[in-house]
Amino acid sequence: MTKKEQLYEGKAKKVFATEEPGKVIVSYKDDATALDGLKKGTIAGKGVVNNRMSNFLMQILEKEGVATHFVEELNERETVVKKVEIVPLEVIIRNISAGSFAKRYGVEEGIVFDAPTIEFSYKNDDLHDPLINSYHAIALKLATPEEIETIKAMAFKVNAVLKAYFLKLGVKLVDFKLEFGRLADGTIVLADEISPDTCRFWDAETNEKLDKDRFRRDMGGVEDAYREMMRRVFGE
Ligand code: TMP
Ligand code: ASP
Repeated sequence: MTKKEQLYEGKAKKVFATEEPGKVIVSYKDDATALDGLKKGTIAGKGVVNNRMSNFLMQILEKEGVATHFVEELNERETVVKKVEIVPLEVIIRNISAGSFAKRYGVEEGIVFDAPTIEFSYKNDDLHDPLINSYHAIALKLATPEEIETIKAMAFKVNAVLKAYFLKLGVKLVDFKLEFGRLADGTIVLADEISPDTCRFWDAETNEKLDKDRFRRDMGGVEDAYREMMRRVFGE
């Protein structure tokens, strides 16, 4: 598979065409943004961690029956994925209160929920990704009712698989953000990435943060946290 012209550059990744119309190559950068793009920086080695971890997790999910965009890892920063039309929703699953949930509802972080929650944000930079419900998403024609049901079921399945997987590594999966895409035939697949950029990971014993919150909150030890998650997953 060869890399052709660049199709898109996002905050953390670039996307390139290939000789196959149904496939693109994603290239992971070390660039990081937070607070709606206001905070910018780099996290050395992040692109490698996110690429390898995301690919590894997507392969676990495929085995568990979750369709994903993953095709083939080319090297430590680049991966061939199926070309999709991204559904413009950020799908957030939470197991423990943290971040915007704790802020919005005025509760402390760390409350373990009896059942996971799901919420949607409308992916729209001009509007700052506002929180919306599934009826709003349908009204705005961002997805059909059937697609919303598929996405909800897939997101909860991802949570069940990954929560159990990370617990075995001594990591609590606090919350995470997923994105879904449509293949040319309309099939919904899990897309984007699953990484310390898009998940909150807390050490199961100490609750130490092992994810991008260390960057968002200027806590220091950002690279070490990404390296530690790499070590837990790959033993290196
Ligand atoms: P939140 O508590 O800030 O809403 O974040 C919930 C989860 O979603 C957390 O694991 C971080 C992830 N996330 C992203 O991946 N991208 C984003 O733009 C935001 C706001 C959150
Ligand atoms: N939404 C954030 C940004 O604009 C990303 C994040 O906090 O993960 O960069």
